[in-house]
Amino acid sequence: MQVVTSIKKMQDIVRELKRTQQTVAFVPTMGALHKGHGRLMERGKQNADVCVVSNFVNAKQFNDAEDLKNYPRNPERDKEFSEAHDVDYYFAPADDEMYPPGFLTSVNVGFLSSRLEGEFRPGHFRGVCTVVLKLLHIIQPTHLVMGLKDAQQFVIIQHMLTDLCMDIKMIGVPTMRDRDGLALSSRNALLSDEDRQKALCISRALKRVHFLVKKQGILHSGELLQAIRSAIGTAGVELEYAEIVNKTTLEPIDHVVRGGTFVLIAVRIGGIRLIDNTRI
Ligand code: PAF
Repeated sequence: MQVVTSIKKMQDIVRELKRTQQTVAFVPTMGALHKGHGRLMERGKQNADVCVVSNFVNAKQFNDAEDLKNYPRNPERDKEFSEAHDVDYYFAPADDEMYPPGFLTSVNVGFLSSRLEGEFRPGHFRGVCTVVLKLLHIIQPTHLVMGLKDAQQFVIIQHMLTDLCMDIKMIGVPTMRDRDGLALSSRNALLSDEDRQKALCISRALKRVHFLVKKQGILHSGELLQAIRSAIGTAGVELEYAEIVNKTTLEPIDHVVRGGTFVLIAVRIGGIRLIDNTRI
C-alpha cells in the first residue's frame, strides 16, 4: 500500500492509472476505521482494479467545535487496517493541503441537505459535498463506495453525481452491525459501557418497525413512529428525530411504500450523537 499525503502526488498516480486503463474504487473516510470500513474496502476491491482510501477529518462538516475536537483519531492504526485490507493507495492529506488559504468554494445540494441531519447539523452536508467533490476531482474514480448507515449522505452524494454529470458508479454497502445489533460507527468508541447498552434501543426500534410492517401489515407512518418513540423513550435516550421518508426525495410519507422507504433515526446518548436507519 502506498501512503500519499500530497494532492499533486495523488494526481500523478491517478494519471498513470488512467493511462494503464485501470478502474478505481474510492472509499472516502474520516479514519477511526472499523469493520464497516473494512467491508467498504472489500467491496471496492471486488469492483475495481485498484482501491483508494482517503482519511481526512473534514473540519468543514462539523458544526460543533467540541465534536470535531473529540472525533476519534488513530492514523497509525488506520494505515495498518487499510494495508491489511489490501488497499492500494491511502490518501491522507493535511488540512491545509485540502483547504489552503483562500479556499472559497462550497457545494450545496439544495433542500436535500437542509432536512433531517441538516436541521440538527446546519452546514454539515455543504461540508460533506465540498470535500467529497474535491476528493472525486483528485482521485477520479470509476466507483465510489459508501456506507448506507449514512443514508441521507448517500442520497445527497448520488444526487450531486447526477446533477453534475459525473460518470461514477456509486456502490452502497449495507450497514454492518455488532452481534447485539448496534450499527458500527466510529463514534461508538466514545460511548461508555452503560451508554452503549442504552444505544441498543435504536436497532431494537428499527427491528420493531420491520416486524410491524412485515408481520402485522402496519404501513401507517404515524403508528410506526409512535412505536419508535416509545422504544427510544423507555430506554432513557434523547431522540433527535425519527422519520419515515421516500428513499429518493427524503420527503416524509404518510404510509410506507415497500421497496421505497427509509426509516431514519438520530439520537443523543451522553453527548454522543448516533444515527441509524433501515430500508423497507
Ligand atoms: O461518511 C464520512 O465518513 C464522511 O462524511 C466523508 C464521506 C468521508 C466525507 O468527509
